[in-house]
Amino acid sequence: MDLSDRVAIVTGGGRGIGRAIALKLAEVGATVVVNDFGDPAPAEGVVEEIKAMNQSGMAVMADVSSVADVDRLVATTIDNYQQVDILVNNAGITRDQLLLRMTDEDWDMVMSVNLKSVFLCTRAVLKHMVRQRRGRIVSIASIVGIVGNAGQANYAAAKAGIIGFTRTVAKEVASRGITANAIAPGFIDTKMTEQLGEKQRQELQSRIPLGYLGTPRDVAEAVAFLATEEARYITGQVLNVDGGMAGV
Ligand SMILES: NC(=O)c1ccc[n+]([C@@H]2O[C@H](COP(=O)([O-])OP(=O)(O)OC[C@H]3O[C@@H](n4cnc5c(N)ncnc54)[C@H](O)[C@@H]3O)[C@@H](O)[C@H]2O)c1
Repeated sequence: MDLSDRVAIVTGGGRGIGRAIALKLAEVGATVVVNDFGDPAPAEGVVEEIKAMNQSGMAVMADVSSVADVDRLVATTIDNYQQVDILVNNAGITRDQLLLRMTDEDWDMVMSVNLKSVFLCTRAVLKHMVRQRRGRIVSIASIVGIVGNAGQANYAAAKAGIIGFTRTVAKEVASRGITANAIAPGFIDTKMTEQLGEKQRQELQSRIPLGYLGTPRDVAEAVAFLATEEARYITGQVLNVDGGMAGV
């Protein structure tokens, strides 16, 4: 894999899967803009790690559910590096609750951060990718968006939305040399899954055919491949990285 001369934006890149994606893209040569929201320290730490590999990158704090912040994120990328070749829509949150107890706020928050953000970021980078006649959009969905999960109606709806959005964008921009794909991780060991109780964890693990949780690196490897020139003929696809869990 070689992503030299490519500029990537990774949303939610300060920790977990986003951090692993940012580091992997840098490892294969890309310049990486590490986005995150809230405390800047994690994203700045990832940029330090990227620089320690003798690669370039910068941290840009922005709320990906805000149009003004997303426009600033992409404008800062263009001002600094004059191009944007890869967008990884990774930022995401959970607000789990059984549907009867789910509040309007739980719903709206998850839809904004997990789905509206994908629309805003993709629209903002596409203007540049269309002009460049080159681009890779990889969005992190979830197998929950394919098979569902009790307590995650908001999250599952947002992740299923990412899949429909990705298939549509793939068709709209294919003629411009731009691909759009989604990755559907299964059960990956991060802060997000730390919130699960031990009983829930063991029950989930017993449903993974490979028998163990995935790592952020497992997801990052798949993202990096989809971002390469070698993946040019793959678009509108959903790749499950789930140890066989979804079984679809
Ligand atoms: N961990 C899993 O098992 C798993 C499974 C399937 C899908 N996913 C998806 O993978 C992605 C990353 O998950 P993770 O487990 O690394 O989560 P995480 O909670 O460890 O990291 C998420 C990152 O997104 C950032 N973020 C949150 N809101 C943001 C906002 N409004 N703007 C910008 N950044 C924001 C956070 O600050 C954090 O750095 C998410 O989209 C998640 O839904 C995770």
